[in-house]
Amino acid sequence: MKIAIVGAAGRMGRKLCELAPSMGLEVVSKVDVAEGFDAEWCSCTEGVIDFSHHSCLAANIAKAAAAGIPYVIGTTGILPEEQAAVDAAAKAIAVVQSGNYSLGVNILLELVEKSASLLGEDYDIEITEMHHCHKKDAPSGTALMLAKSAAAGRKVSLDEKAIYGRHGDVGERPRGEIAVHALRGGSVVGDHTVMFASELERIELTHKAQDRAAFAAGALKALVWAKGRASGIYTMRHVLGFV
Ligand SMILES: NC(=O)c1ccc[n+]([C@@H]2O[C@H](COP(=O)([O-])OP(=O)(O)OC[C@H]3O[C@@H](n4cnc5c(N)ncnc54)[C@H](O)[C@@H]3O)[C@@H](O)[C@H]2O)c1
Repeated sequence: MKIAIVGAAGRMGRKLCELAPSMGLEVVSKVDVAEGFDAEWCSCTEGVIDFSHHSCLAANIAKAAAAGIPYVIGTTGILPEEQAAVDAAAKAIAVVQSGNYSLGVNILLELVEKSASLLGEDYDIEITEMHHCHKKDAPSGTALMLAKSAAAGRKVSLDEKAIYGRHGDVGERPRGEIAVHALRGGSVVGDHTVMFASELERIELTHKAQDRAAFAAGALKALVWAKGRASGIYTMRHVLGFV
């Protein structure tokens, strides 16, 4: 399969280019705004993986929809109007979208949903994430996914229960709140902890990514899986056969 990587000069893009051949994929276009990279992917491209910046997603995915080729989105921090462009493209092509392509985090999502459902609101949920100092969006796409899983386990709306950080005279913690906190520093690839804290005990579920290859291998697998699929939006849970 001939593929294009959007954001090929970046941390994830370089890892994707390095791993693609070992999975039988040929990178025919390395698209990036950085000097020496392709401005566009070539017409022979059979699928696209995008780990770049959300601001270029709408135009690129519309182009893939017109060409009828599958698209894997790793880019996070996507704005509502950009997500609308993704949803429109998914009417024509198979799109896989996930805030995290690692096997470990996708298993953690299942564990968090189950734990939240079993423990209920007697256990306060606090989610922390830490990433390298170059990361641009916060909180991480993965932390948002973990918060959604916790809300799904409790059968509540995340929009109504979520808070992002605390500062000032915030008062006592309301029962049922789902809190998300972002830390930045150094070269951390990606750490996430979901804490369930009651009056009597505390459970902490933690994932630590040690190498970006954990995300890159999952994204490459997702593109192979998406080839020939019906149009629509899929997640890594579909790729891994969890749903
Ligand atoms: N879903 C996941 O599993 C996962 C894992 C890691 C990172 N990410 C996300 O992937 C994205 C990239 O992460 P990174 O650490 O590689 O960042 P990075 O800053 O190292 O790389 C981004 C690359 O995109 C390029 N770029 C920016 N605007 C562009 C445009 N208009 N057209 C083409 N290229 C453009 C930049 O030049 C850069 O080379 C971020 O949104 C990050 O949050 C997702």
